[in-house]
Amino acid sequence: MKLLAAFSLLIMVFNFRIPQFDSGNAVGVSHSQGHILETQSYVPRQVVVYVQFSAAFETVPQVFISQNKVDSYEGSIGFNQRVGLITQKGFLVHSIALTSQSLIQLYFYWIAMCDDRVQVINFNTYDVKQLRTITGQREVLFQIDHNFQEATRGLISLNGVKFFYLTYLVIELKIVEITSQKITISGASYAQSLVDYISFSVLLGTDKSLWTSSLYTVINLPADYFPNIQIDFPSDYSSYTLTPLATWRGYSTDNRYNLRIWLMNVALNTKITYTFWAWGDSVVYAIFHSAGLYVFDTNHKIFDENCLELFSECDFQGESILVCQKIPNLSIKGWSKIVKSLTIPKQKTVNLFTKENYQGEKDIFTENQQCMASTVLSINFQPLISYIRILYLNNYNCPTVKFYSQCNFQGTLFQITKGQIVKQSNKIPFEIKSINICSNVVVHLKNPNYFESKPQEFTTSQSCITSYKFPKYVQPT
Ligand SMILES: *[C@@H]1O[C@H](CO)[C@@H](O)[C@H](O)[C@H]1NC(C)=O
Repeated sequence: MKLLAAFSLLIMVFNFRIPQFDSGNAVGVSHSQGHILETQSYVPRQVVVYVQFSAAFETVPQVFISQNKVDSYEGSIGFNQRVGLITQKGFLVHSIALTSQSLIQLYFYWIAMCDDRVQVINFNTYDVKQLRTITGQREVLFQIDHNFQEATRGLISLNGVKFFYLTYLVIELKIVEITSQKITISGASYAQSLVDYISFSVLLGTDKSLWTSSLYTVINLPADYFPNIQIDFPSDYSSYTLTPLATWRGYSTDNRYNLRIWLMNVALNTKITYTFWAWGDSVVYAIFHSAGLYVFDTNHKIFDENCLELFSECDFQGESILVCQKIPNLSIKGWSKIVKSLTIPKQKTVNLFTKENYQGEKDIFTENQQCMASTVLSINFQPLISYIRILYLNNYNCPTVKFYSQCNFQGTLFQITKGQIVKQSNKIPFEIKSINICSNVVVHLKNPNYFESKPQEFTTSQSCITSYKFPKYVQPT
């Protein structure tokens, strides 16, 4: 495990952060522990483990996990591993059995990142359409919205699946398209294989933060044999810290034997290398896999998502001031420097004036400026207007809506009870990831950063809002 920490001195002077990451392998459940996934048969049953980071992050990171060991008896197999509560110090992983079948081991790899050039998307569904029919070759497309406009690359990991008992277990996932708003995932199966549920994670990145390989397949993995997988990667990234990633995207196995596969020894030298292993009592016809590199750049700066920042030197250096609303006289805030560079949140516009009270010459900017020279005495900048509006329709029994900072109703809780007035987002202390909503209640969330700036409407509980990023409120300075 390694963690590249930020230079704490810089943090005191500037408002921006630099990326941080940490990674490792972990065990969800292992053999001879007598854990309930192995010894019990009720459904669902889960075991939760806590993974602690080697050092605390400055803010809550995103966590991508990829399953790398599955060890189950034959039969109607079903399991899932997913990330639960994430804090600055660590995170929870839930290993879940979805059938009565005994699950012996589930291991996973994890990487936690505070980096605005990556985004983790988790998805699971029982709505697998034709994958639930048993004839022939089938492919289903899943479209998932995201708000990571710069995304160009993605790495997918199959982290959960449920099959009905038939001779073959076949599932293959791949990313077919990444646009600035959506990713399209294909799920395929063939022969006599009946898929009931799938769960996967995608690590999305840009050309600069993520490199991804072609799609590969290991065919007919013999028992007790370690294929030596070696993947070339471009030399463009030699000046960065690279973390090798390897994921399985699916497999084709014989259900009359135990499902037991292990992706191991992921390493980086002149190539990305790893291997697979199957036990003597499993029959693996194919493992679908792919690899990638997380590119960690210590020179990358993460600027404020909601506020403007002015710098006294080019390249976002020198002294700085954070601006979260309009300011009629910048001198009162103690700023008298020439502005040599500035950062602007996405989809925002700023007007800089050479005189106080929005007088003098006006410069309009919509993008970060790496090098400029302006005397600025007043700034017109609209603060973010985000709000929560709740309509109670004949609802008397359950008048409270609960908002959580994490998926699955975990993390920090913020609640609004009927009768309370919540005017603006300055009452909302965090980014909302899940909401508990009773019947006959309508919740509107408005986030102006979202390019369609109409409010999002929810009438049922949301266990994980991935397509809608409600901005974390920043107290204006
Ligand atoms: C702006 O603030 C500075 C410092 O407090 C003050 O000297 C100056 O008169 C102010 N300008 C206006 C137009 O109010």
